[in-house]
Amino acid sequence: MDANRLRAACRQLDHAVDRPFGTALNPLRHLGALGVLLFCLIAASGLYLYVVLDTSAAGAYRSIERLAREQPHVGGLLRSLHRYAADAFVIVMLLHLLREWLFGRYSGFRRFSWLTGVPLIGFAFASALVGFWLNWDQLGQFSALATAEWLDALPLFATPLTHNFVGTGAIDDRLFSLFVFVHLGVPLMLLFGLWFHLQRISRPEVMPPRALALGTLAMLVALALVHPVTSQAPADPARVPQLLAYDWILLAIHPLADATSPAAVWALVLLSLGLLFALPFLPRRAAAVPVARVDPSNCNGCRRCFDDCPYAAVTMLPHPDAQKRRLGRELAQVDADLCASCGICVGACPSSTPFRSLAELVTGIDMPSEPIGALRRRLQQQLAALPGPRRIVVFGCARGARVEALAAPDVAALGLMCIGALPPSFVEYALRDGAGAVLVSGCRANGCEFRLGQRWTEQRLAGTREPRLRAAVPRTQVATAWADAGEEDRLHAALARLRAGLDAPEAVRHG
Ligand code: HEM
Ligand code: SF4
Ligand code: SF4
Repeated sequence: MDANRLRAACRQLDHAVDRPFGTALNPLRHLGALGVLLFCLIAASGLYLYVVLDTSAAGAYRSIERLAREQPHVGGLLRSLHRYAADAFVIVMLLHLLREWLFGRYSGFRRFSWLTGVPLIGFAFASALVGFWLNWDQLGQFSALATAEWLDALPLFATPLTHNFVGTGAIDDRLFSLFVFVHLGVPLMLLFGLWFHLQRISRPEVMPPRALALGTLAMLVALALVHPVTSQAPADPARVPQLLAYDWILLAIHPLADATSPAAVWALVLLSLGLLFALPFLPRRAAAVPVARVDPSNCNGCRRCFDDCPYAAVTMLPHPDAQKRRLGRELAQVDADLCASCGICVGACPSSTPFRSLAELVTGIDMPSEPIGALRRRLQQQLAALPGPRRIVVFGCARGARVEALAAPDVAALGLMCIGALPPSFVEYALRDGAGAVLVSGCRANGCEFRLGQRWTEQRLAGTREPRLRAAVPRTQVATAWADAGEEDRLHAALARLRAGLDAPEAVRHG
């Protein structure tokens, strides 16, 4: 299956989940944010467990049992919540990874996000594994011994680690304190790694929408109440523990090693990590698109491109001209390594307005591959070629439903690299230049390839974000259609509504 087919299958899955949840609450569209939420739940419930945990090898099991027996509604619940949130965290993290991979979001300007994501997998599994040991029941003992056997498969230690876990009185408080230290320290490293992971993303979505967050919490609490986590028999250092009830998500490594061998699992883990780290460096077929370029003579230092760039590629510097600098003027600058070539900054720049009388429209920040002046020319030419007052202009996104599919004698269809690259003044310009109505289309909400293009466009058209579509523009002549690639029928439906609306101006326009 080639990459495009995989992406299309992924999008179909998104649409199937959109049906019951809506695009705003589809969990697949918020996996990163759900991961952060689950991390917070794990940390909050873990903090309480830490307070009651006796951190000695002999007392740990008893302290957790007491917790479940004496405070089933708070302590017992938090204990179960801690475990189920950890299971959910690992599932959500792996789905997030799979999704980014299937959508091809791992190279170029996303390389940093990808590479800083990979170590998080190791941190998540390592801290979960050690968490089982803190209970020091037979499952914890089994896991500690199996992990030691696995580590012993590497020629790293002079004395095999397994010696720590077999024989009477094998485990001492010092070793147990080390478990506690690792179980607390590794999540801190994960948190630090997460901060790195989000460095190249402006306005990262770190919390899912409230309804989704509450739904996730309710589901975990229900699971904890219906199926509370219980300890198994206490660890017995004199006996090799038998496997009782198992957590197949967090402890998957042990049955895998049992079914194959510790060396085979090492090979699998190292190969998988190696492939994940190598992926962003593999050659890809897509041609590189030139990055955004600032024209100092058209930049007034307003910072809108800086605010709207989804990948923090724009920085504002003191103006190089001493006189302007003295007046406090700044100048935008693009970091080519961070730029996604999405054009969202062009849509944000006040100099991108087509009403300027320049023969060749030049703006403050522009995309060399699709300059804003060329968009104005295309619009003028296409409108001039269409007859009559019922002309409709469609602005669309190259990643979303194909606007070219709308070609008709009354339609001027213009595709952009991202709909966020459309300055809203172009909508007014099209209407003033003879269009009867304008349709603006882009990917479904929360599905923008460049994260924020659809959202900014919606806000700019609604007049809640700069640059705004002026309030004087008759909204009955403007419609939006948020449709992914392959959903051209949605565009056709929106167009049909617009055509009907040209005869009956009060018709509903948004879909
Ligand atoms: C510990 C688990 C993880 C959490 C909590 C997490 C969280 C997040 C969040 C909140 C975002 C920003 C989403 C947005 O606002 O658009 C993000 C982006 C991203 N993550 Fe993760 N992440 C995790 C692990 C990973 C892993 C393991 C990978 C892959 C190896 C990965 C790859 C990416 C990529 C490539 C992006 C950028 C997406 C884009 O540019 O549109 N993440 N992550
Ligand atoms: S093209 Fe996109 S990523 Fe590059 S500077 Fe403009 S908004 Fe930022
Ligand atoms: S939006 Fe345009 S004018 Fe404003 S800082 Fe960016 S390039 Fe300069």
